[in-house]
Amino acid sequence: MNLAERIHELSVNQQTDLQATRRHLHSHPELSFKEFETTKYIANKLKETGFDLQQITETGGFIDIHGKNPSKRVIALRGDIDALPIFEKNENDYTSQNKGVMHACGHDVHTTCVLGAIQILNQLKDEFEGTIRCIFQPGEEKLPGGASIMIKNGVLKNPNVEKIFGQHVMPLIDVGKVGFRSGLYMASADEIYIKVIGKGGHGAHPHMNIDPVVISAQIITELQTIVSRHAKPSMPSVLSIGKVIAEGATNVIPNEVNMEGTFRTFDEEWRMRAHGIIKKICNDIAEMHGAKCEVEVRKGYPFLKNNTELSDNAKNWAIEYLGEENVEDLEIWPAGEDFAYFSQEIPACFYRLGIRNEQRGITSMLHTPTFDIDEEALKVGAGLMAYLAIRELNS
Ligand code: NI
Repeated sequence: MNLAERIHELSVNQQTDLQATRRHLHSHPELSFKEFETTKYIANKLKETGFDLQQITETGGFIDIHGKNPSKRVIALRGDIDALPIFEKNENDYTSQNKGVMHACGHDVHTTCVLGAIQILNQLKDEFEGTIRCIFQPGEEKLPGGASIMIKNGVLKNPNVEKIFGQHVMPLIDVGKVGFRSGLYMASADEIYIKVIGKGGHGAHPHMNIDPVVISAQIITELQTIVSRHAKPSMPSVLSIGKVIAEGATNVIPNEVNMEGTFRTFDEEWRMRAHGIIKKICNDIAEMHGAKCEVEVRKGYPFLKNNTELSDNAKNWAIEYLGEENVEDLEIWPAGEDFAYFSQEIPACFYRLGIRNEQRGITSMLHTPTFDIDEEALKVGAGLMAYLAIRELNS
């Protein structure tokens, strides 16, 4: 049996365990940076395999699997462990028991797959040279992002981690398949907060007021020129205002309007320049009408860049492991992801695990209350992670 066949067999044999692990995690979700029970559960699982979870953050942690010649090279596998403040609407054996909290982004799956990969790699320690650091990262869903804290606390040091893989579920890809993309993949994501302060009064006497509603409407429209007129056509950018609160009435002009939105792009220099234009547009339009404006652009995660060589290699190794028909190319995806912090530090590859099964009605998108996966994806995810790690170390 070659390496791929051995890993296939090991992953198929642990499918029942993987399913039980995922269901436990799914029914016991915890919010970002509050993953205390999840961390205990992971630590206990690892202890059964002979590993002590090392902790450099309050929740989460990592272990090192040593192959032959362990100091030769070090690479990492990352799974995130936190859940979202969403009330789950699925009704099954593993529905969230922590009402109002839900693994709606599949981080239960990512954690399970890293645990599964550890089981496999631990049995194949003679097959690779070097060390594989397996990271259970807290707080992906909440700023400043668990990845940035773990990096600050040294997760990529002692010994130095050379490259890193991360895996994320994708409801647009069928179960059994995976997706890769070299280069720019996910966007930086910043939050925009705008307060337009006018002068409220009776809706019948607009000339005696400064109407922040009309001013806000102009601001929303003008902000669209950031994408259509200021951004280079080759640079994907998104600006959306998703919240507009003007608490007047049919006959009341309010004193102020509050708006919130998001700005996303794929270039640090343009990102900073765009922040300046956002502020200028808001302030200038407000000033033009004698109103005041407070603008805050809160920086979120940076953009995620997949290292070209590592991602191209990983795609080829995935083809070896799963067959050409099961490996897809991904389009740019303008969501944010804190794995981006790893990708800014060392060569990184963030790829997608298919979980969709239309026949079984499993099609809900991430961050929705009906999100679920086809659990056949678990053995694929665990096996592929293990395979990529060994192929990289032996390359
Ligand atoms: Ni996620």
